Amino acid sequence: MLAVIGGSGLYNLEGFKIEREVFFETPFGLPSAPVVIGKVGDRRVAFLARHGRDHSYPPHRVPYRANLWILYKLGFKRILGVFAVGSINRNYKPGDFVVVEDFINFTSGREDTYYEGKFSHFPEGEGEVEDLLRSKRAVHVDFSEPYCPQIRGALVEILENKGFAYHTGAVYACTQGPRFETKAEIRMLDKLGSDVVGMTGYPEVALARELTLCYGALCVVANPAAGIASYPLTSDEVIEMMKEKEENIKEIILDLVKKLPEERSCPCPNALKGAQV
Ligand code: HPA
Repeated sequence: MLAVIGGSGLYNLEGFKIEREVFFETPFGLPSAPVVIGKVGDRRVAFLARHGRDHSYPPHRVPYRANLWILYKLGFKRILGVFAVGSINRNYKPGDFVVVEDFINFTSGREDTYYEGKFSHFPEGEGEVEDLLRSKRAVHVDFSEPYCPQIRGALVEILENKGFAYHTGAVYACTQGPRFETKAEIRMLDKLGSDVVGMTGYPEVALARELTLCYGALCVVANPAAGIASYPLTSDEVIEMMKEKEENIKEIILDLVKKLPEERSCPCPNALKGAQV
């Protein structure tokens, strides 16, 4: 079962039959939008608009914990995050797709863990995560491979087959926003090994892993990053590129739903083994 967190409007996928919408308050507050659940063939698929349906949640105020929690509680084991990014790597051009392999977090003040020891929320319900939260123990999750290798592999195969321009093995630098970066910040991110920059890739990836979910990140290069572009950046440019790529993104999602086997054969389900102190 795959859930897609991305722009609104993605859910008019060809062959996607909407069955219901789910919206409830989680121990971590309200999600940014109702979860739209339906089927592609016999596969259940969900969509969640990260910024809300009216795009009223800016990157630093997205209720990331509530968003991942509702998908976890609904039983979705795989998450695909779709993102617009600026390119830092000079080989990455506007319109290219990017499969992320690692991240560097430059955000601050975001609630980026469920495991707060004695300060945790103690949710009701059965499950490894719920038990661990109720144990009040400290939990340290391994992040040496943050993005699910099974999802990454499937994305690369799909992009290759479709003949879309893409890059894999990318490092995503997540900035706090909501402003775009300075030229000096981009020079720094470049020196540190970042390929792309965005404002929403973290903490989604971290929260998914803490819940033992598989998480993949598919980006579209919307613009060259500040200083690499020789002009001021605008939201208009980003939105225009995402509109232009909307059909391609839907095709990729459709293929991903069909391609991923029911069984997870990655290490993600074991994320909490040995993590508890
Ligand atoms: N910086 C940060 N976030 C972004 C960018 C950028 O250049 N483009 C799209 N999202």
